[in-house]
Amino acid sequence: MKRVGILTSGGDCQGLNSAIRGLAKGLYEHYGNNVEIYGIIDGYRGLIEGEYRLMKPEDFSGILTIGGTILGTSRQPFKLMRVIDDETSVDKVAEMKKHYNAMKLDCLVVLGGNGTHKSANMLSEEGLNVVSMPKTIDNDIWGTDVTFGFQSAVDIATNVIDCIHTTATSHGRVFIVECMGHKAGWLTLYAGVAGGADVILIPEIPYKIKNVINCVKKRTKEGKTFSILAVAEGAIEEEVAKLPKKKRKEAIANLMYPSISYKIAHEIEEATGQETRVTVPGHFQRGGSPDAYDRFITTRFGAAAARLIIDGKYGYMTGMVNGEIVPVPLKEVAGKLKEVPVDSPVIKSAKSIGISFGDE
Ligand code: F6P
Repeated sequence: MKRVGILTSGGDCQGLNSAIRGLAKGLYEHYGNNVEIYGIIDGYRGLIEGEYRLMKPEDFSGILTIGGTILGTSRQPFKLMRVIDDETSVDKVAEMKKHYNAMKLDCLVVLGGNGTHKSANMLSEEGLNVVSMPKTIDNDIWGTDVTFGFQSAVDIATNVIDCIHTTATSHGRVFIVECMGHKAGWLTLYAGVAGGADVILIPEIPYKIKNVINCVKKRTKEGKTFSILAVAEGAIEEEVAKLPKKKRKEAIANLMYPSISYKIAHEIEEATGQETRVTVPGHFQRGGSPDAYDRFITTRFGAAAARLIIDGKYGYMTGMVNGEIVPVPLKEVAGKLKEVPVDSPVIKSAKSIGISFGDE
């Protein structure tokens, strides 16, 4: 009997269930009745606390199009994984190993983002058999061209910008749409280009507010009554980006606005006199059904993860490289961030049609 545990960890996104389904179908197809799949509840929390259940084949039916995760998820910061809890004296790593052994697992499949992959690599180094799949709307996992959830989030954020366009034109306003993405600008860049934003601000390209204001003023001079800015939640001013790490963190933490977008809006309104509004779609970007592309790639990721297990190839993430699914060693993925390259062809073509990134 083959025994496989599965958990989803960190922020949810579209495509988690379709990835789970792809994996389960791949395993049942190969092993028939000779496989047991254990669903671990709420990510690493369930593995630490021993909360899991034996899944039935029917648990994986009808979930292809459903958003969120049927297993639940939670954030268990990597930096606390080895910290023994004062009150409970729980050794989280020892507990996870204990429950892995209690389930008699041959492999643990982990679906998650950057933090999740650090913990997955740690468990792999602790001797557990681990296979992972790259999940996050941020698209910032190293070793894969694309993560699942990203494209669905781009669709949603683009739709937000589309809707904002009509109200922005009616009122002749400046609008900022703030996109998620944590420390990476992928989501803002793709949605900004797809939605026809005039300005795109991403963490990888620190901006000068005077350049942003000049762009809005130039549009007004050209007779354009409105402007749309796609701003990443991690967008950063050039002078703040230049600060030493500690000072930079302090400056970001002490921002006098709910987020960077509100500061930019205030500065634009002051300088141009044009009404400026902020829209923050927030977790909306992670919600709802996966789009066709995410269903497509998660089905492939799931099937590839099942294949790794069948082949006994552990310690890998299923990555997508040039359209092919390839095994990427967990130790190479863990601890790295895939940022938007500043010389990215996407940025070059966006600049060539006049989109401002606030850097010039
Ligand atoms: O990593 C996904 C993400 O949605 C980021 O884009 C965002 O910064 C963060 O998670 C929000 O986290 P939470 O769901 O804990 O508020």
